Amino acid sequence: MKPYVEMTKEELQELRKELSAQYKEFQGRDLKLDMSRGKPSAEQLDISMGMMDVLSSNDDLTCEDGTDCRNYGVLAGIKEAKELLADMMEVAPDHIIIYGNSSLNVMYDTVSRSMTQGVMGSTPWCKLDKVKFLCPVPGYDRHFSITEYFGIEMVNVPMTPTGPDMDLVEQLVASDDSIKGIWCVPKYSNPQGISYSDETVRRFARLKPAASDFRIYWDNAYTIHHLYDNDQDHLIEILAECKRAGNPDMVYKFASTSKVSFPGSGIAAIAASENNLTDIMKQLKIQTIGHDKVNQLRHVRFFKDIHGMVEHMRKHADIMRPKFEAVIETLEKELGGLQIGEWTSPKGGYFISFDCLDGCAKTIVAKCKKAGLVMTGAGATYPYGKDPHDSNIRIAPSYPTLPDLNQAMELFALCVKLVSIDHILAEKQ
Ligand SMILES: Cc1ncc(COP(=O)(O)O)c(C=O)c1O
Repeated sequence: MKPYVEMTKEELQELRKELSAQYKEFQGRDLKLDMSRGKPSAEQLDISMGMMDVLSSNDDLTCEDGTDCRNYGVLAGIKEAKELLADMMEVAPDHIIIYGNSSLNVMYDTVSRSMTQGVMGSTPWCKLDKVKFLCPVPGYDRHFSITEYFGIEMVNVPMTPTGPDMDLVEQLVASDDSIKGIWCVPKYSNPQGISYSDETVRRFARLKPAASDFRIYWDNAYTIHHLYDNDQDHLIEILAECKRAGNPDMVYKFASTSKVSFPGSGIAAIAASENNLTDIMKQLKIQTIGHDKVNQLRHVRFFKDIHGMVEHMRKHADIMRPKFEAVIETLEKELGGLQIGEWTSPKGGYFISFDCLDGCAKTIVAKCKKAGLVMTGAGATYPYGKDPHDSNIRIAPSYPTLPDLNQAMELFALCVKLVSIDHILAEKQ
C-alpha cells in the first residue's frame, strides 16, 4: 500500500469505511487489554518464586562477617548484597549503598535531600530562586513527577539515536547555574530503548557545569535487561569515566532488582564517589537504622553472584523477546511504508516508543480506550504531561499474554490508521 499522504481524498475515504467496520468489530469483542505500565507478567514473576524458599526458620541468617540479619544495623547494606549489586552496577562494592525496595524512592530522596540540605555543602536548593533539571524527551514519567513535585523547572532536551542532544546539554549546563541535574536512563531507555553511545557517555563525563552542585542522575534501571544473548548494548561505566575526566563527584548512579526479582520487593542501590556517599550517609543515618537485610540476604542466597543473575535474566528474556518481536512484526506488517508512524526496535529494556503524525497521539490513545485497550497516556513521556508535538506513545509489551498482545497491537495499528486518515483528510480540506 502506498503512503497515506499520496492517496487521493476518495481513496482515503474508501479506506476509512473499510477500517471503521473493522474497528466496530473490535468494539463488539468487549476487550479489556492493558498496555499502560511496564510491569513484568505473572509468568516472569513465577521464575523468581524460588526466592521464597531460600530462607526458612531452619536457616542461619548470619552474614559472612557475622552480622545477624534479623537485627538492626549495617546502614549501607550487608557486604554480600553490596558485592552482588556492585557487580550488577559495574562498580566497586565500597562505592555503593544498598537501600530499600525501590530505586525511584532513592531518586526521590536524593532530590529531597538536595532541596533541604544542599549537595556536599552547597546552598540547599529550596533557598534558591530557581532550580532547573534537564529532561531528555521522551523520558520516564515518574522522573518528571519527582522534579515537578519539588517545583523544579524542567527543560526538555531532545533524544537522538545515540542519547540526549549533547550539544544542547553541554551548552545549557555550562551557561546556567540554576541547572542542577539531568535525568538519564542510559541503557535501553524508557520509552525508546536507546542506549547511549560511547561518545555520549564520554561527553557526559566531561561536562563543565556552571553549578558545582550539578549532578547527573544516571538511572541504569535496565542494566542487565537484554533481549538477546548475542546482540547486547554495553555502556562505558560512568563513575569511572567521570573520575578519569576529573569530575568524580558529578554523577549518582541508581539501579534496583525490581525487574530482576519482584518489583516493589527487590533491593535498590545508589553508586557514587566517596565524597557523595559521605554526604548521603549523613542523611541516611537520621532517616533509618538500616534497610531490610533479610531481603538483601534472600537475594544473595537466591542469585549467589552476578552469573546467577545473568542466567536469571535469560529466563526473563525468553518471555520478553517474543513479545517485543510480536509488536515490531505487527507494526511493520500493518503500518510499514504508510508514513503515518515510526517506532524503535530495542534490544532490551521494557518499552517500544511509537511516534505518530503530529497532533494525533491523544486521539489514538483515546480511540484505543474506546475499544477496550488502555495505553500509557499520551503526553506522559514529557514533563508536565505536555508533548509539544502530541506524537509520542509508549508501548509496554511485557504485561499482557502473547495472544492478548497480538490483539492489542492489531487494534492499536487500526486506531493509528483511522486517526491518521482523519488527520490527513482534514489537512486536505
Ligand atoms: C527508568 C526506570 N527507573 C526506575 C523504575 C522504577 O524502579 P524501582 O522499582 O526500583 O523504583 C522504572 C520502572 O518502570 C523505570 O522504568
